[in-house]
Amino acid sequence: MKNKKRIVALSALLSVGSLMITGCGTTEQKRIIRIGHNQSTNHPTHIGLTAFSDFINEELGDKYVVEVYPSELLGSQTEMVQLTQTGAIDYCVASNAILETFSKNYEIFNLPYLFASTEAYHSVMDDETITEPIFTSTEKAGFEAVTWLDAGTRNFYTVDKPIEKPEDLKGLKIRVQQSPTNIEMMNLLGGSATPMGFGEVYTALQSNIIDGAENNEMALTDNGHGDVCKYYSYDMHQMVPDILIGNVAFMEDLTEEEQAIFEEGYEILNQTQRNEWVSAVEAAKEKAANTQKVQFIYPDQAPFVEACAPLHESVLTNNPALQSTYDAIQEYNAKYPSVAK
Ligand code: GCU
Repeated sequence: MKNKKRIVALSALLSVGSLMITGCGTTEQKRIIRIGHNQSTNHPTHIGLTAFSDFINEELGDKYVVEVYPSELLGSQTEMVQLTQTGAIDYCVASNAILETFSKNYEIFNLPYLFASTEAYHSVMDDETITEPIFTSTEKAGFEAVTWLDAGTRNFYTVDKPIEKPEDLKGLKIRVQQSPTNIEMMNLLGGSATPMGFGEVYTALQSNIIDGAENNEMALTDNGHGDVCKYYSYDMHQMVPDILIGNVAFMEDLTEEEQAIFEEGYEILNQTQRNEWVSAVEAAKEKAANTQKVQFIYPDQAPFVEACAPLHESVLTNNPALQSTYDAIQEYNAKYPSVAK
């Protein structure tokens, strides 16, 4: 209820979508394009979106002004997806995990241990024959995905108990994203799944409402979780992409020429974000280890993989339409197998 009221208030606030620009005696109206995300302004996603916004403003600046809102300024990811659905905002970045509640097709990329390697993961996400049917599956709901962003590998981290094997999760309250697949994954691993929005995790860790969480290394530094959690365990359970979604009506209203420019913009965003990602993760690891004194643990992944295996079968049984996507992913896994380190 509280969320609903917040969405209505945000929608009302954002409904004035154009900006009057007055200069030299002429008044022109520009359409404001609003993009929301939940990361800080240092994060690769914000840097990528800034490159996108610069490109559009440069190419189509006489008609549009792109504004990027970081740090959940426009609401949580779920709220931002709803705002994008109604057209109160034009785009937002949402984790693939959140999108699962809007279309079951997204379940596939939330499966633990789905990808054999980073190369397999990237190749799958770059293969439009795989992503297109999923990205367009929410068209009737008012939004579509236009590109994906790297969010690395998700691992468990805890305040004071190192996770060496699944049994170590027993009795621990671990924050997961608000996705049925993630909750099920946590149940299979034996921990107690505590779903909540990303913005609430730091306070929940600090006040002992939860014992740990799971995410990529950036969460330790950029979100401060490494100030509280001192053990980060490379079980590497998921590679969950972030997805840029856009309002269908807005995108359909663009002229053909504009659509081509926007397509180029999405590609700039994707490439910039992914390039930035590599160095951002390196810097996060360095800071977490040396400044925050987080201890990195490298457990045997096999028992984690085994515990999660039933989830592949149950997702495919409940949604057989995903089988062909799953099979196509296995081909990339065979081409880019995991390299033992
Ligand atoms: C990552 C991801 C975000 C997501 C967050 C989370 O940071 O990039 O999109 O919201 O994890 O765990 O909620």
